[in-house]
Amino acid sequence: MAGTDRSHAHFERARRVIPGGIQSNYRKSESHVPVYISHGRGARLFDLDGNEYIDYSLSYGPSILGHSNEHLRASIVRQAEKMYSNEVNALEQAAAEKIVAHVPCAELVRFACSGTEANYNALRIARAYTGRNMVVRFNGHYNGCLDQLIGGIVDDPQNPVPVHGERETDAFSQMGNTAGRAAHAFHDSYMIEWNDLDALSALLSRFGDDIAAVCMEPVMVNFNGCLPEPGYLEGVRELCTRYGVVLVFDEVLTGFRMGLGGAQGALGVIPDVATFAKAIGGGFPVSVFCGKREIMDVVTRAEVIAAGSYNGHPLAMAAVIATIEELEREAGAAFTRINALGNALADGLRDKFDRHGVPLILQGFPAAWTIAYSDRGRIINHRDSLAQGDTWAKGLVFSRLMNSRNVIVQARFCTSAAHTEQDVEETLRRADKAIAAFTAEAR
Ligand SMILES: Cc1ncc(COP(=O)(O)O)c(C=O)c1O
Repeated sequence: MAGTDRSHAHFERARRVIPGGIQSNYRKSESHVPVYISHGRGARLFDLDGNEYIDYSLSYGPSILGHSNEHLRASIVRQAEKMYSNEVNALEQAAAEKIVAHVPCAELVRFACSGTEANYNALRIARAYTGRNMVVRFNGHYNGCLDQLIGGIVDDPQNPVPVHGERETDAFSQMGNTAGRAAHAFHDSYMIEWNDLDALSALLSRFGDDIAAVCMEPVMVNFNGCLPEPGYLEGVRELCTRYGVVLVFDEVLTGFRMGLGGAQGALGVIPDVATFAKAIGGGFPVSVFCGKREIMDVVTRAEVIAAGSYNGHPLAMAAVIATIEELEREAGAAFTRINALGNALADGLRDKFDRHGVPLILQGFPAAWTIAYSDRGRIINHRDSLAQGDTWAKGLVFSRLMNSRNVIVQARFCTSAAHTEQDVEETLRRADKAIAAFTAEAR
């Protein structure tokens, strides 16, 4: 390792003008000096000091094509040479047509800039369409940084309106606990456990007439990579239809990582409205809210204001089109690669942890999965995760040990179309040493 002197020096300067020296609280913890990336190529990132990293963070998910994909880069440069101010442009319709072609629920599509914004719009649309107010969220899901969507704890399971706060034993509640939240931000939502159909059924039978939307990650990617139990999503779909509630899938992470149709395409349960961000732009800031025509028409009729200076920005639209074109190529060869390498890495790591006698659960899907340190076989939701002890903190230890061996990973491992077999082999070699250090430190 060439050292990180330049990154250290840069961080010191950054702290003078940037709170915490970082742009997003989750990007790097304050106690950890971030490495400053100078450029990326394929699955590799290079920092200011000349260190080379194998990247499984992929900017927290978006860079599904890897770094500096030639087709994406050329499309952006071509568009930048023509026009990059936010005028109405023909690319908007071409990008929307691509989304409609691939995403089962998408009959009408609008673009925004972040996942948070897309979710906010989706909920406003659901409220306008139903004429109801309440929204159902799920413990352990992350839907963005908005006051109403982030964090909260439930004190009274009989009336699961979240309240501001955190619990000492609950890492997820701590990650979502922010000062400065509007006093009544949580008053319009319920928060219940995911993968518990009885909980949703009971809530809807009591309060269904007031509930506009049920909003969930269709796979709980953000916390322990929990997959839906057999029949759960189908049951949710059925309940939402029965109670006239808009089912919103937050596909910000599953979007394109589970295929061009998202989780709804892969799992065969179609929501009414869905949001996408991250991988849809291959690394450019862009998001989507889309859904059934009848529902999205509240925007068509301008009953709902859905606005943003940068929505449909031509560079973002060029990024969406180029990313989808790359993922469509050769009948989805990129996904075959992403999934095969994700599986190879997961199998290799599981094997190595096994040999060190460390029990773990590896959950998620091939393109995005998480390690939880538990000997109970699987975790199905947030409540289950808490019952199994601190499955989360140890994961952070392993990520740090991998990062110090020039493998960039957070809680989640993501693969891209640019990863190679050699990247995985090299990662597993480095993991050997990281696991040995992990067993000494974290057991
Ligand atoms: C599932 C999910 N929804 C929403 C968001 C928020 O997206 P953004 O950070 O683009 O606002 C994220 C971000 O990590 C996410 O993982």
